[in-house]
Amino acid sequence: MKKLLLLLLILSIIESVSAQGMWLPSLLEKQNEKEMKSLGLKLSADDIYSPANPSIKDAICQFAGICTGEMISPEGLLLTNHHCGFGAIQQLSTLESNLLESGHWAKDRASELPAEGVTAMFVTRMEDVTIVALQGVTENMGERDRQSQIDKNIASLRSTTKKEKWEDVEVRPFYNGNQYYLFLTQTFKDVRFVGAPPSSIGKFGADTDNWVWPRHTGDFSMFRVYADKDNHPAPYSKDNVPYRPRHFLPISLDGAEEGDFTMVYGFPGATNEYLTEEGVRLTGEVLDPARVAIRDRSLKIMDGFMRKDPAVKIAYVSRYASIANAWKKWLGEMQGLKTYKALEKKRAYEAEFTRRLEQNPAWYTRWKNLLPRLRQLHKDIEPYALARDYYSETCLRNNEILATAANLNNWISSYDPKNETVFTSKLMNVRAAMEDFFKDYRPEVDEAVLAAMLEMFGENTKPEWGAKDVQGMAEQAGGYPALAKQIIGNSTIANRDKFRALVSSKTPAEIYETLKNDPAYKLWDQLQGYYAAQVQPKIQEIQPQINLLQRQYMAAQMEVFKETRFFPDANSTLRLTYGKVRGFSPRDALQYEYQTDLDGVMEKYIPGDYEFDVPQKLIDLWKAKDYGQYATADGRLPVACIGTNHTTGGNSGSPALDANGNLIGLNFDRVWEGTMSDLNYDPAICRNIMVDARYVLFLVDKFGGAGYLLNEMKLVKGKKKRKK
Ligand code: ARG
Ligand code: GLU
Repeated sequence: MKKLLLLLLILSIIESVSAQGMWLPSLLEKQNEKEMKSLGLKLSADDIYSPANPSIKDAICQFAGICTGEMISPEGLLLTNHHCGFGAIQQLSTLESNLLESGHWAKDRASELPAEGVTAMFVTRMEDVTIVALQGVTENMGERDRQSQIDKNIASLRSTTKKEKWEDVEVRPFYNGNQYYLFLTQTFKDVRFVGAPPSSIGKFGADTDNWVWPRHTGDFSMFRVYADKDNHPAPYSKDNVPYRPRHFLPISLDGAEEGDFTMVYGFPGATNEYLTEEGVRLTGEVLDPARVAIRDRSLKIMDGFMRKDPAVKIAYVSRYASIANAWKKWLGEMQGLKTYKALEKKRAYEAEFTRRLEQNPAWYTRWKNLLPRLRQLHKDIEPYALARDYYSETCLRNNEILATAANLNNWISSYDPKNETVFTSKLMNVRAAMEDFFKDYRPEVDEAVLAAMLEMFGENTKPEWGAKDVQGMAEQAGGYPALAKQIIGNSTIANRDKFRALVSSKTPAEIYETLKNDPAYKLWDQLQGYYAAQVQPKIQEIQPQINLLQRQYMAAQMEVFKETRFFPDANSTLRLTYGKVRGFSPRDALQYEYQTDLDGVMEKYIPGDYEFDVPQKLIDLWKAKDYGQYATADGRLPVACIGTNHTTGGNSGSPALDANGNLIGLNFDRVWEGTMSDLNYDPAICRNIMVDARYVLFLVDKFGGAGYLLNEMKLVKGKKKRKK
């Protein structure tokens, strides 16, 4: 009986391994086409990715290096998330004209605003270059020699690959370094802001609703990609013209219903699906809880200040959101790993792996030590990984003043009394960066956060990592709050006037002397010294051994579980994931439907609230049920939906497509219960969240009054056969 249960468990794990995946577009025909068609896809693999002919791939770009965007018109109109365009829109906003808050639509091409620094990267083609990249690499080579051989091979690949002068070549490792792929790309740098709904819609639900279903956020914004007159990437110029992509996505007015095929095409950032039980335990039971506990404290403190003072709220809202985003994800991840028994599943999988080795002498000789050694190394690295996260969270991520000291370090330590030119040449940039920093810096907030961070560091880490020093300093000062007060009160880099006076009236030697002795800089320098001496070397010693064994483990799994298709972990390269639009049951007796609508927005509406307020115009449209062609057959306006697409950070802004390759939505999040999917994807509960294309169009047209943009789009309706 026990054996049978184990077998069933293993079968279900192997099955779930093949149901998930972030697949390589160039391998779809070989690996996925059949399955995709059985799920409902009406296109061929070649329609989705082709190195030679126009294909859907030509409509997909990496947006701003961290998100995904897609072409939705023949004239370079780009759709991405609101939270992806947020930084750029913020840059373009002023107090008098706050485009973020009010929402904005350029009234014509000439009024589209250059979004400085924003890029759009398209993939021309990709190619398996494993054989060349691994030339001269042997099994018993040391890791360092191996890497330098690979680096040499890659360098020569890059220089010998034929490319146009506006193209770039990139080579990246896949399957933990067992395979290598080359990407030919082109990156556009003239990207202009076209429009976005007001934040109250684009960020509706903000941090409370983040990572949660049911969701009601209109998370989208639009940009336009500009090219030179030959349609190639070029720096910003007023003579540039809208980019003409080889493909753009038609937009469906039909949406998707439960059970319909969907796929998401984009640039997922990082996953770790092939860790051992011990590796998952390290993240889920050691690192996640520590990081969550640290951020709990800093977030509570920031929130307290933000609620008291609207000016502080404006200054800290973006910082708060980004700290809260990962905090909430880790919390969901550690709970999900536990609830859905990730460790037990890994254990059963490893037992099956070992059982198969034992039945095959060649495998056994080669790999019998793999898992025991990997387990041991994850145990060995645990205290150092924890120390690393403690250091980076308390001393860098969650307080501002030590982080600023760290940022200034390069400059400060470039001072040379015999030759001051390097130091002075950097001064302009430093001043600009510091002015930027001071704009949103509130010393009283940071002081409270710093006190909490130093306390966590002093009380929870080891003496030899700097805890003893911090404890001693706190004792001397009369407690952690007093210590933080002393540091911030006496620091030149925490005080705009003092800093301005210093850099505008003192000699380089005096500036150097002052900063070198600045209490915040000194403390950071001291703690970073411990980190560099006690923690980093250990990580640098153990991590490469883990990487080596993970690489071997990956190769071994691919051999031992021949019947399974393995996808490579996400690495910010172009991937396709597919599945079905589908609700789920998060708990016993509870069933989540697959779609939300505007009535649901109004259920959550709280007048005046900073997360759940909405503009009057939206309320009016809702009251009048004035949804035009965007309504469902039963008169509702769909807002968001969920599906079984396997996505991760970086997939924000990725198009959700139907079986015909029409846009039905825009990926922007995952459900709370399934945030563990980076380590343990479970098709029963992991869902991606998409904003419905009809809500996007409604907001552009009916709400935003920018219906003229629809003229350049291709809207499709009625193509889909309705099932009963
Ligand atoms: N959770 C989504 C993602 O990981 C959305 C983040 C932006 N929204 C927010 N409230 N912080 O990026
Ligand atoms: N919001 C995430 C992003 O910015 C996508 C959600 C996820 O992590 O799956 O990429």
